[in-house]
Amino acid sequence: MIATVRRARRLKGEVKLPGDKSISHRGLILGSIASGQSRLRGLSPGADVLSTARCMQALGAGFDGVKLDGRGLRGLRQAAGPLDCGNSGTTMRLLAGLLSAQDFESELIGDESLSRRPMDRVVKPLAEMGAAAGWPPLRVGGKSPLHGLTYAIPVPSAQVKSAILIAGLFGDSPTTVVEPIKTRDHTELMLGSMGAQVLVEGLKVELQPASRLEPLELDIPGDLSAAAFWLVAGGLVPGSRIRIQGSGVNPTRTAFVALLRAAGFKIRETNKREVGGEQVADLEVTTAAGLRPIQVNGGTAAEMIDELPVLAVAATQMPGRSVISGASELRVKESNRIAAMEEGLAAMGADITAVDDGWVINGPRFLEGARVSSQGDHRVAMALAIAGLMADGKTEIDGAECVEISYPEFFDHLEYLWRASGE
Ligand code: S3P
Repeated sequence: MIATVRRARRLKGEVKLPGDKSISHRGLILGSIASGQSRLRGLSPGADVLSTARCMQALGAGFDGVKLDGRGLRGLRQAAGPLDCGNSGTTMRLLAGLLSAQDFESELIGDESLSRRPMDRVVKPLAEMGAAAGWPPLRVGGKSPLHGLTYAIPVPSAQVKSAILIAGLFGDSPTTVVEPIKTRDHTELMLGSMGAQVLVEGLKVELQPASRLEPLELDIPGDLSAAAFWLVAGGLVPGSRIRIQGSGVNPTRTAFVALLRAAGFKIRETNKREVGGEQVADLEVTTAAGLRPIQVNGGTAAEMIDELPVLAVAATQMPGRSVISGASELRVKESNRIAAMEEGLAAMGADITAVDDGWVINGPRFLEGARVSSQGDHRVAMALAIAGLMADGKTEIDGAECVEISYPEFFDHLEYLWRASGE
């Protein structure tokens, strides 16, 4: 599908976000090994979370879209064939953790993009826990019990941390992971809410083996990584005001919002509350004033890794030299996001240079509509669409259907905001 986007004169309205993708995956996976029925309300409608739901059904968990029948820690059964994780790295890595601890073997497969992504980062610690784990293809399990492990994760990754912690539930002794930088902590929070013993001290997470997990009553907040697109658009398109209700604002996810604010964005957070251990708030963004360039380095990149493509778009409109570095992980996401965003934004007239671990971007630059490619990557497609709202003429995004991975309604919402402003 080719999506066409034109310059917006202003953006006004209210958006309902898709449910948080990270929390949705975890709800499905951990709910499937709870003792009893969980309820998951507001699950992400994206294809990635659907991949997880199908895998859990194939492993014996009953799921009707809200009600999830947990099978207990030892109650999953071997799937009839390979488990298809689609495009979803979170599905593959978290399931590798869970399934490495089962007494049956599982094979995890994915689409072309996922098949290229690094899995040694989970295979290595799982093998150290005593699991049978090999890659490629990714085959795990059939040799439980596992041993507890103390592991310093070399690359900041919430997926790796979560895979080890989920495997650690089945260990014969406690498991400790130490992160180089704090990453999203949804797994720790959810496990704690299910009665597991998790102790977090700074960058260290210690988990005791579990004998039972309580079912979940989850109201999943909106996805802040989806809100990121509207925050950038509302801040940069003149005369805009966009309201976003019920966004997750877990402090391990909000570094991006703080950075935008420091760069001159006006983002108001109201009605802050806690829902099921996760922080939630309504956000409102109005057009920014007094913009300053952006600096991201290895200390902060991991905290906003999914927001960096749209941050690159924002940087094209900042006066001065923005440097986004410390983000070489972007090269092994759904696409090589460093190359994909350089290619797309350069075609639109941005002054952007890709470096090994990020970009150097000089702004502000007038953007021109162009034919650009999503490279099959949902966040690239959405980031380039936001650039199109600020570009002269028409921007055509090839392969735009991939937004279904995390935000199927993205283009409907974009059109609504664009029209509601009287264009
Ligand atoms: C995620 C962790 C991040 C992020 C991904 C979701 C998660 O990946 O990019 O979209 O839900 O744990 P890494 O762990 O590879 O950094």
